[in-house]
Amino acid sequence: MSDKVFAQPMLKEDSLKGKVILITGGGTGLGKAMGKYFTQLGADLIIASRKLDVLEKTAVEIEKGTSRKVLPVQCDITNYDQVENLLKLSLEKFGKVDSLVNNAAGNFISPTERLSHRAFDIIVNIVLKGTYYSTLTFGKHWIKEKQPASVLNIVTTYAWTGSAYVVPSAVAKAGVLALTRSLAVEWAKYGIRFNAIAPGLFPTKGAWERLLPGNISEKFNPVIKIPVGRTGEHQELANLAAYLVSDFSSFINGEVVTIDGGEWLKGAGQFNMLELVPTEMWDEIEKAVRNVKGR
Ligand code: HXC
Ligand code: NAP
Repeated sequence: MSDKVFAQPMLKEDSLKGKVILITGGGTGLGKAMGKYFTQLGADLIIASRKLDVLEKTAVEIEKGTSRKVLPVQCDITNYDQVENLLKLSLEKFGKVDSLVNNAAGNFISPTERLSHRAFDIIVNIVLKGTYYSTLTFGKHWIKEKQPASVLNIVTTYAWTGSAYVVPSAVAKAGVLALTRSLAVEWAKYGIRFNAIAPGLFPTKGAWERLLPGNISEKFNPVIKIPVGRTGEHQELANLAAYLVSDFSSFINGEVVTIDGGEWLKGAGQFNMLELVPTEMWDEIEKAVRNVKGR
């Protein structure tokens, strides 16, 4: 176990006991990290994505450390029939699903004018359409069965600011954020909560290969943009996710929690660049500013 407090499991044992949680894109990266922790807290798991071999390997790995069950399901979330089949297989195995984590995504950097309409489609289809297909399928089931549930959507900090060079992803994540806030209100009467997490930079193979390929991170060291001076640890995101799908967060609904070390605010604050001013220059600057007074 890490000696860094923020990289350690946070919730008390059995916090998710008896829960069945579905994570789309749960075979890799952040989805896998969340899944591993959810089972440690007592949940059974369904992990779904396109690559069955990857899912099966992850399922074996997670099950090894726990007595909980992990069901890997091949499912392309851009295909509604496959998502309905995912619900069917989940119910056959566990009899219920308590939480849906919409984590699957697609993304790559590119000047927008270089994108074909199919390239734009592929990202929006995975991120936005895949999320509302899953949400609609499981939501209708929960409403019909009168089953309380929670949905956790993984977005990004550029869901509200937008971002150049990842425009399809920005457009789609903004849509997911709107979906989160809209249904948090509309479906609260059915006992279904909606929240989102907006992660900053968390090193994963999937994201790094597509967003910081080759030696690009040597040219534009992304850590420079993060006030706390580091990237995120998977466990700290898993801690937050576990809390938001647990019943401990029952009064939190429609919230998006940013976990980015202050990165997006650093980009936003108009005078944040003044941190480049050397300490010894501040005497001179203060004198100049004070001289203005009263004129
Ligand atoms: C321009 C590209 C392209 C590129 C693909 N295309 N890559 N165009 N630049 N680099 C175009 C193709 O030419 C094609 O259009 C269309 O996109 C579909 O491409 P395919 O390769 O056929 O699609 P597919 O095999 O389904 O792959 C989908 C994918 C892939 C999204 C491109 O990367 C993928 O499967 N990703 C899943 C995992 C992932 O992306 N993880 C990262 C999430 S990170 P044409 O017109 O030629 O047919 C993330 C973090 C956000 O979201 C925030 C970080 C801070
Ligand atoms: P990742 O490992 O590439 O995860 C993406 C997952 O989505 C993969 O497991 C992939 O599996 C799955 N997927 C893609 N298309 C799919 C489809 N059509 N149907 C079903 N599953 C599909 O990347 P990650 O970094 O862990 O990202 C996880 C989430 O965090 C994403 O929502 C991402 O936007 C968000 N995020 C990450 C960061 C970061 O720094 N890492 C920052 C902000 C937000 P298959 O290929 O098997 O389908």
